Amino acid sequence: MLKTRHLIEPSDLTLEELDDLFTLAERIEKEPLYLRESCRGKLLAVLFFEPSTRTRLSFEAAMFRLGGSCLGFADPSASSTVKGESLADTVRMVACYADVIVMRNPKEGAALLASRYSSVPVINAGDGGHHHPTQTLTDLLAIRRLRGFIGNFTIGFCGDLKFGRTVHSLAKTLVRYCGVKQMFISPPELRVPSYITTELGVNGIEYVETDSIESVIGQLDVLYMTRVQKERFFNEEDYIRLKDTYILDTRKMELAKKDLFVLHPLPRVNEITPEVDSDPRAVYFKQAKFGMFIRMALLAEILDTVI
Ligand code: CP
Repeated sequence: MLKTRHLIEPSDLTLEELDDLFTLAERIEKEPLYLRESCRGKLLAVLFFEPSTRTRLSFEAAMFRLGGSCLGFADPSASSTVKGESLADTVRMVACYADVIVMRNPKEGAALLASRYSSVPVINAGDGGHHHPTQTLTDLLAIRRLRGFIGNFTIGFCGDLKFGRTVHSLAKTLVRYCGVKQMFISPPELRVPSYITTELGVNGIEYVETDSIESVIGQLDVLYMTRVQKERFFNEEDYIRLKDTYILDTRKMELAKKDLFVLHPLPRVNEITPEVDSDPRAVYFKQAKFGMFIRMALLAEILDTVI
């Protein structure tokens, strides 16, 4: 179905394709032997020009669990990028060696550019403050598994909504599901970009922007916390001033619904206190594990190895 296709933004997938991926990921989770050897002989190139723990390692784990192999780099300083090789040439070369490429790059639009020079599918693992489609797959699978289906809920995005690519990808994708109300909680300097709110407005989606988490937390079914993205600030003073604007603690959790789910793409810095981790509503570590199953499903579909 997805064979030979690039995944640059979540909108590259239809709702039906998303649903099929979630169903496949759920089957893989339930039946660990299903598809275990399906990617034997296939190679995944993992090109990370920015640091990562979850995305890179879950992609590698996914490929190994499907019987395939991985090559690549976690640090571009060990590649010929430091000699001045362009991204286009790097991707052209890697496509000679691998069957699929997963790439993270600090520049917005880098994955799209790579896809234009690659003879094999390119999966965007994050391009600057733009998109992170496989995190969206992870988030949606988590919501489906925890709530039973994706629709009819209120989600609050909290923190750095300006630079948070996971927020941009998920907010845009939720426009395509029924009955999802979105609340954007941020300081004025870190508001969600207008291209996202415009998309919501054009589609008649109800949304709220506020700087107060206390005023809305009681209305939320899903709270999506994010860290302030230090690496995207031009000015350290601004980062220091804004980094601890929101800290989710047990006192704030007392204001929330009993069936709230707290998601976070991770890494977490200070925005959720460790005491919240033991609250059953805090599901961010479970969410990260769903990321491996959905990436297994995605690789198996793109490499056309689902039997
Ligand atoms: N969620 C996420 O993208 O985490 P990493 O930066 O660790 O990959």
